[in-house]
Amino acid sequence: MSSLDARSARPRSASLPSDRVGTVAGVNPLRDQRDPRLPRMAGPSALVLFGVTGDLARKKLLPAVYDLANRGLLPPGFGLVGFARRDWAAEHFAELVAESVREHARTEFREDVWKQLQEGIRFVPGELNDNEAFAQLKQTLADLDERQGTGGNHAFYLSVPPKAFDVAVAQLRRHGLADRPKGSWRRVVIEKPFGHDLDSARQLERKLAKAFSPSSIFRIDHYLGKETVQNLLAFRFANTMFEPIWNRTYIDHVQITMAEDIGIAGRAGYYDGIGAARDVIQNHLLQLVALTAMEEPTSFGADELSLEKRKVLSAARVPSDLDAHTARGQYATGWSGGVEVPGYLEEQGIPGDSRTDTFAAIRVDIDNRRWAGVPFYLRTGKRLPRRVTEVALNLRPAPHLPFDGTDVRALGTNALVLRIQPDEGITLRFGAKVPATPMELRDVNMDFGYGTSFAESSPEAYERLLLDVLLGSEPLFPQPAEVELSWQILDPVLDRWAERDTPPEPYPSGTWGPPSAVEMLARDGFSWRRP
Ligand code: BG6
Repeated sequence: MSSLDARSARPRSASLPSDRVGTVAGVNPLRDQRDPRLPRMAGPSALVLFGVTGDLARKKLLPAVYDLANRGLLPPGFGLVGFARRDWAAEHFAELVAESVREHARTEFREDVWKQLQEGIRFVPGELNDNEAFAQLKQTLADLDERQGTGGNHAFYLSVPPKAFDVAVAQLRRHGLADRPKGSWRRVVIEKPFGHDLDSARQLERKLAKAFSPSSIFRIDHYLGKETVQNLLAFRFANTMFEPIWNRTYIDHVQITMAEDIGIAGRAGYYDGIGAARDVIQNHLLQLVALTAMEEPTSFGADELSLEKRKVLSAARVPSDLDAHTARGQYATGWSGGVEVPGYLEEQGIPGDSRTDTFAAIRVDIDNRRWAGVPFYLRTGKRLPRRVTEVALNLRPAPHLPFDGTDVRALGTNALVLRIQPDEGITLRFGAKVPATPMELRDVNMDFGYGTSFAESSPEAYERLLLDVLLGSEPLFPQPAEVELSWQILDPVLDRWAERDTPPEPYPSGTWGPPSAVEMLARDGFSWRRP
């Protein structure tokens, strides 16, 4: 028996304790002795939301807080504090929370749950540079600790523009809000983009580190909170049948698409000057690359997971001929859902000569033994024909086809497609014989759909991530080294685009991006999938 045979005769998983089953993400079973099947419930705590009047808070964060409460995952000793530049009373704020919950929560509205949540709702009016407002915030939190029993455990969620992070963190520090009394915790949550490039990302980290310890800083990349993204780990590491093909021997190339049919949807202030590459590729898509390409971590603890992701990201690069292997576009007037829509430059709040990319595509090569020679193509864009995110692994063609050439003309490539959203699931595409023909082949799909296989509906990404913040569970949050490595991959592309000093290539709304994106793949002998 060769050593390989010896290894397969005694699979590693056979020696694992049975309680590891199902601990795919979030809990390090080696450290956490709880039964992983028990619901994870937050302890006494208060969540302070800065920028509570923004879209993210209204559509995602506030509803997520309610959904957690409704699922019984928040304790009675829970407080929710809104902080914004509005002269509101707490009652008025509570009404707005109720409105956003009614409109956007995933679970049904229940009076009893709402009443309980409402008891811990407070509002602090003020600007970020207003010392009095921070003094009032401190007082409000002390009051919540006393009356609501939030235990001195406070999470500060900075849902504010990145340029305001500095002042918010400095104020928390100045007012002693970042100092954790004995036996309690203080945490800060920031949303991407983490900086504008590698240098600014490092500066941001230095500022955060002045106020908070590394394990108190939670960087949100909401894609990691998506069930289907976590399922990538389950799919790869809880099954045996895919591992043998998960490498350069079988995989020809990988396409990762995150397409949106919407435009910038009133977010001109945030989006302009940032663009698609910084908004999505630097974080969501490079995290998907890392999870798709990484080796098996020794556990799903934060450090172990991050270690494997970092190895991939440090081996990843965009090939040096950047003009040939990247594409950059901006949507022009066109059609979306049967309606004529304006181009990016006509959107409210966008300067008529803006060069912001609303479509970006790059090729990433991973220089390691598993992936050498397998290009990963990443694309994202706004105003594309539909909303879809997927990871498609395209397999190499069969080395020889023992069929008459005319019978296989319709045969495409075998592919394994992980559908992140919508219609979450997995598709395996392969050729099959068309019935009643001598031997004609056609591509068919074999499908797994979350909706049909499971009765439970998936929690929203923010539900999972907010709960993890309150629990102090770190695996689903990118570590600073991952953020830096991602900028290291993207910075040369952004620099090259800036140096070229040409506007992004226009593409009509409702199409799959600019011609250069098609050419980029055609040069390598491929074409983009039409998801
Ligand atoms: C955000 C981007 O991170 O993700 C937005 O800033 C984008 O521009 C959004 O619209 C898409 O998220 P989802 O979960 O709808 O794919």
